[in-house]
Amino acid sequence: MLETVVKAHDETRQGEAYAPHEESTSPFQKNFYIESYGCAMNFNDSEIVASILQGEGFGATRNVEEADLILLNTCSIREKAEQTVRKRLTEFRKLKKAKPGMLVGVLGCMAERLKDKLLVEEKLVDMVVGPDAYRTLPGLIEEANTGQKAVNVLLSREETYGDISPIRLDSNGVSGYVSIMRGCNNMCTFCVVPFTRGRERSRDAASIVAEARDLFERGFREVTLLGQNVDSYHWMPSDSVPGITEPVTFAQLLASVAEIDPLLRVRFSTSHPKDITDEVLFTMAKYENICNYIHLPLQSGSSRILQLMNRTYTREWYIKKVDRIREILPDCGLSTDIITGFCTETDADHADTLSLMQYAKYDLAYMYFYSERPGTLAARRYQDDIPETLKKQRLAEVVALHRQHTLDSMRKDVGKSFKVLIEGTSKRSSEHLYGRNDQNKVVIFPKGNLQKGQYVHVTVTDCTAGTLIAESATAL
Ligand code: SAH
Ligand code: SF4
Ligand code: F3S
Repeated sequence: MLETVVKAHDETRQGEAYAPHEESTSPFQKNFYIESYGCAMNFNDSEIVASILQGEGFGATRNVEEADLILLNTCSIREKAEQTVRKRLTEFRKLKKAKPGMLVGVLGCMAERLKDKLLVEEKLVDMVVGPDAYRTLPGLIEEANTGQKAVNVLLSREETYGDISPIRLDSNGVSGYVSIMRGCNNMCTFCVVPFTRGRERSRDAASIVAEARDLFERGFREVTLLGQNVDSYHWMPSDSVPGITEPVTFAQLLASVAEIDPLLRVRFSTSHPKDITDEVLFTMAKYENICNYIHLPLQSGSSRILQLMNRTYTREWYIKKVDRIREILPDCGLSTDIITGFCTETDADHADTLSLMQYAKYDLAYMYFYSERPGTLAARRYQDDIPETLKKQRLAEVVALHRQHTLDSMRKDVGKSFKVLIEGTSKRSSEHLYGRNDQNKVVIFPKGNLQKGQYVHVTVTDCTAGTLIAESATAL
């Protein structure tokens, strides 16, 4: 099986094979197969790549055997992510032996990090294309077809692919991603993203709103605005855009997308705690269709570790931010990312992380043990001195505590009523549908005459650790 079933909002999804959601007989002469790893932005990039390839006469296939071109859109965030991709590349190389005309290309963050190593030294692929070079794919495919080394890993200060209309791959037809910016200027010391994605740049606001409107008109009912640090979105209009003369902030962009239609839900990810403003929180409060849900990565609850990580906030500052969110948006869902075992982390630092978790009581968390990435500031400055067993032991404690918190948070919702956007049929039962409430919690309920894309009203009667259950649902 090439496909892994994963949560739609998982930051580090692994290896999803992609094909357009309308499965039709392909009118195309050539087929490409693309597998995506990593964050939602990478998945959205695959949709941009699909659009570029379609312009070249390539159709998407889910069946790797029938592909003329295999692409892996890769992630470098942790060592394990890279290992998974290497394994896949070795498998594809075998496949290529049986089908010599086929090309294999590596896209995304590993392409950027390793440059031509995978092609020249390891001879695993025919093409290496960095995240800002996808427009050059057609030329690179031609080069690779004639046996040349097809490599482009140039990063750009301007590229946002703003004019490219992504082809929605493997979408449920209800929720879609819209990238609003690229790159990151933050330089958290553990993180490879600034090196693989380059400088931060914001996409033009008018093209974002137009893409979201287009999705709505095609029946989508939810857009998630994507960026590594959405709150630092800042777009200076040029003369070419009539009607907008002032710089656009993230709060203004959110409002513009929310105003497309009250039936279009708006979500966003990721908010860096240092940058999320009151203006954003008040905008969320003002518009009913901006979901009350914030992903606010903590990384560590210890101010000393946060400083070594260059996160630029302290434990106290983060706590104040959580308080402010709860003050302005009392029923806001809150999720986070946590790293255990960062350089020099002591038992006391770890206890600080656990106690901050107790304070914030996250509804959802992505938890990792620290993985040193070559070239990052932490790799250059600090020693990766926490043994892996201890990193994993601390991670297990963090995971166990989080489990209690999610279960408590789910139980608290039993008896409450929610508005839910239906996303599709439940994986466990064809007689049930699933959707999410404002706070991003999955709710399952009987199908009745309901359909995906509709809003329903449900009263929760039961729950599991990951799902709310309702016995009936009424269309709104
Ligand atoms: N831009 C987002 C995070 C992107 S990466 C933000 O700033 O919050 C997603 C998550 O991966 C990070 O929040 C962090 O928790 C984790 N991560 C990043 N680098 C890591 C590393 N070297 N080891 C372990 N986890 C890491
Ligand atoms: Fe990485 Fe920090 Fe940028 Fe997030 S904000 S992508 S963790 S450098
Ligand atoms: Fe991974 Fe690159 Fe995203 S490193 S998490 S795919 S930006």
